[in-house]
Amino acid sequence: MTAQPAPRIATVRVPAKVNLALRVGAPDPGSGYHPLATVFHAVDLTDEVTVRRARRFSLEVTGRFTEGVPADETNLAWQAVVLLRHHYRQACGVRTPLPVAITLEKNIPVAGGMAGGSADAAGALLAANEVWGNELTIEDLRDIAAELGADVPFALLGGNALGLGRGDELSTVLARGQLHWVFCVSPEGLSTPEVYRAFDRLTGWDQGPTVDTIEAWEAPPEPPEDLLQALRSGDAVEVGQHLENALQEAAVELQPGLRETLAAGADVGALAGIVSGSGPTIALLASSHDHALDISVGMAALRPEVQVFTATGPAPGARVVERTG
Ligand code: C5P
Repeated sequence: MTAQPAPRIATVRVPAKVNLALRVGAPDPGSGYHPLATVFHAVDLTDEVTVRRARRFSLEVTGRFTEGVPADETNLAWQAVVLLRHHYRQACGVRTPLPVAITLEKNIPVAGGMAGGSADAAGALLAANEVWGNELTIEDLRDIAAELGADVPFALLGGNALGLGRGDELSTVLARGQLHWVFCVSPEGLSTPEVYRAFDRLTGWDQGPTVDTIEAWEAPPEPPEDLLQALRSGDAVEVGQHLENALQEAAVELQPGLRETLAAGADVGALAGIVSGSGPTIALLASSHDHALDISVGMAALRPEVQVFTATGPAPGARVVERTG
């Protein structure tokens, strides 16, 4: 609880992520979820989530990427405030917080593998908690975030983090220096469950365990020690050598044009290129800010249908940037 009166309106800035390594195990037969060993890296490509007290719940989408974002109760940010309200009722007794109006200013690509929807949900949790008087702690918000989706807790935390379990068991990773990126956004998005299904097909996990595969089936993926060491060294070339993504082949199979974007990235001199998360955004690693600008100019020429952004990481997690009233 805070002594300060709760603001009427709160705005939270929240980062996109790229997985520097994404190792994926066989799906849990009950839930269908895949165990992960992943290294999340937050970048300064951000959405802004504004929550204001209102008579009824509503959601508006503004900014660079609005297409394909639902402006109703199916949006994860809306679900986040409804779930938070439910926890308020349980944790704070009779006091039921008033509804809120949510505005998402979207600069993170939609269905791009950069966890934009998860970022908005994390932002909505933090902003709604502000206008409802900060009754729940950041630890409470982390637990609620994990109920909403595997990537939501990391959007609250930011920085660099190792994610185990579904990707929601997080520990901060020590890293030196900044990494410079060029993100290449395809005109079409990819559905995360569809990419996981393609992954299951390619690996044969969709056939279920056999006597030959049962051992591998049950082994959770190992943390990527070489990448963690490269991050500690702060050497971008070394980090580039250890980027990995088990979902890359599946994403490329679903969007074959990604192969050309990756090849173009190598042609214009990126240190390394990787599909971001479940794709289809491609992350190209640069050695400096100027190098990232050179790469983005080269990519715009070679792949004009792809939108190109530069960004830097690690970036902080969700944080309140404005309180009004
Ligand atoms: O957790 P989130 O809602 O982002 O996941 C979307 C979908 O991606 C899940 O419904 C599941 O099909 C797949 N997924 C998975 N294993 C994970 C994370 C996501 O199979 N660790």
